[in-house]
Amino acid sequence: MMPSYSFSPTGEKFKLPEPEDYPKEFDRLKGLVNEQKALGREIVVVMGLGFVGAVMAAVVADAQDGNGNPTKFVIGMQRPSTRSFWKTPLLNLGIPPVSSEDPEVPLMVNRCVKEKKTLIATYTYDALKLANVVVVDVQCDYLKESLGNVREGQADMKALEESLEIIGQNIPPETLVLIETTVAPGTTEQVAYPIIKKMFRRRGIESDPLLAHSFERVMPGKNYVASIRDFWRVCSGVNEEATRRVVKFLKEVINTEKYPLTVLDRPIESETAKIVENSFRATILAFLDEWSLFAERNGVDLIKVIQAIKVRPTHNNMIFPGPGIGGYCLPKDGGLGLWAYRHIHGFEDEIFKITPMAIDINDTRSLHVAHLTRDALRNMGRPIASAEVLVLGASYREDVGDTRYSGSELIVRRLSEMGAELRVHDPYVLHWWEFEKQDEYPAASSHSLKRFFRGQEKLKDLRVEQDLKKALNGIDVVIFAVRHKHYLNLDPDEVVKMAGGPIAIVDCFGLLDDNKIKRYFELGCEVKGLGRGHVKRIKDQVRLKTRGAAQAGLRTED
Ligand SMILES: NC(=O)c1ccc[n+]([C@@H]2O[C@H](COP(=O)([O-])OP(=O)(O)OC[C@H]3O[C@@H](n4cnc5c(N)ncnc54)[C@H](O)[C@@H]3O)[C@@H](O)[C@H]2O)c1
Repeated sequence: MMPSYSFSPTGEKFKLPEPEDYPKEFDRLKGLVNEQKALGREIVVVMGLGFVGAVMAAVVADAQDGNGNPTKFVIGMQRPSTRSFWKTPLLNLGIPPVSSEDPEVPLMVNRCVKEKKTLIATYTYDALKLANVVVVDVQCDYLKESLGNVREGQADMKALEESLEIIGQNIPPETLVLIETTVAPGTTEQVAYPIIKKMFRRRGIESDPLLAHSFERVMPGKNYVASIRDFWRVCSGVNEEATRRVVKFLKEVINTEKYPLTVLDRPIESETAKIVENSFRATILAFLDEWSLFAERNGVDLIKVIQAIKVRPTHNNMIFPGPGIGGYCLPKDGGLGLWAYRHIHGFEDEIFKITPMAIDINDTRSLHVAHLTRDALRNMGRPIASAEVLVLGASYREDVGDTRYSGSELIVRRLSEMGAELRVHDPYVLHWWEFEKQDEYPAASSHSLKRFFRGQEKLKDLRVEQDLKKALNGIDVVIFAVRHKHYLNLDPDEVVKMAGGPIAIVDCFGLLDDNKIKRYFELGCEVKGLGRGHVKRIKDQVRLKTRGAAQAGLRTED
């Protein structure tokens, strides 16, 4: 049989392990674990080396006692699929398998792998046999069947259920299993517990599994590590012993002195806390969508309105939603809640109104950007079909390179469907995999947002331009989609010069102040923006002034 390979995003090639490699790998692990146990260290297996697991593994491996001695030895466990195997050898070289804007991520991974020697990665599930604690950081997705209707969808628990079965087949009975994955509320007790218990009974183990849940609040960006280590945690165990163990573990690895731990009675409460927290955030963002339209149609600048309201301390968490709400969590987590109510807890009635509505609004908000783009071009007498459109920013929030479910993706897909030619610039994103690998990322074509649009094939060739000057050359429209710091101070004169003449400008995130908007109009551009109804007023003022000046010119010529 031909060997299979796994390629890292930067193109490095790694050969997948063969059956004969497994016993040797297990012997290597046993040797290391014996040495580490002799040093009094607890053995922690982190299952799933994705965005969360890879950094959590390093945070645990970096933990130390009052004398500065490491207290844990961490084995990062990643399944050896062609898609993901590369993460294992990369981590063993001291390189994090996730890219981050936080310089502490590579430093910490390198320190733990190379200097402290408290972190390794493996592909064999046998690692679980050596664990005192297993931290589960595999994905649990929510698959939507249509765009803008979260009710039509289902939790995709396959990876999680498989992982739990493997855990139950391998761990010693006294191992603590800590689920960090965001799950449908009820999963720890009603899905995970029975799966592991069944595996235990098959192995003749009489004791019950020690299971706990504690969700991650990790935020991509420059404080990535701190958002795991120096942040408040919520946790809960299935019984007293599991709760005692999870509290002890988290106190040893997380900065709970400064960021106290909240211990809830049951895992379903910890699971619900995560879903409610994110549904709340999704809701306050969605709430402003209708006011954004109101503002556009009635001469109101919603950005200034929000600033005025936020002065009041009770309302200072109001946030302008930009072109849709992306990231891995907010678009899906409420869906897991709805799904759990029906499929885990067996209720038939529709109690959820606000949560699904918020997700549906957020999931479709960016489509309106395509309308604004079309209208701005129309005001300039140019059709959207074949127009050259530049989207500034591919990620879902400012100054990060995370593109998962970004509003920009939908803007590109919709405008492409309408016949526009798309370009994209993002200083933080080298490859926009949602397009370059749209048939396999995320997960499979069944997960790609491509499925909701027609004529998407050519978007496979979309490449992220790093040179802004080149990106702007010859375009008809600029869409300011993300508030990256690189875009905040762009000078209208420069932009128009680089574009080669007047263009349409669409401001999705309140990037442009009134002076810039005015200048764009003076330069003959058309400006539109999400929630920015006052641009019409600025346009009228500029046009009036230009007309006045022209008339005055005519009179002097008379
Ligand atoms: N990314 C975030 O910003 C964020 C924030 C808070 C919470 N979370 C939650 O954390 C969880 C993990 O998210 P993520 O972003 O790290 O996902 P991810 O897809 O980046 O990582 C999951 C990893 O698990 C691996 N995996 C799957 N099955 C496995 C198995 N049987 N054995 C070993 N490895 C396996 C996958 O190959 C992948 O590498 C999710 O529930 C997510 O909702 C994520």
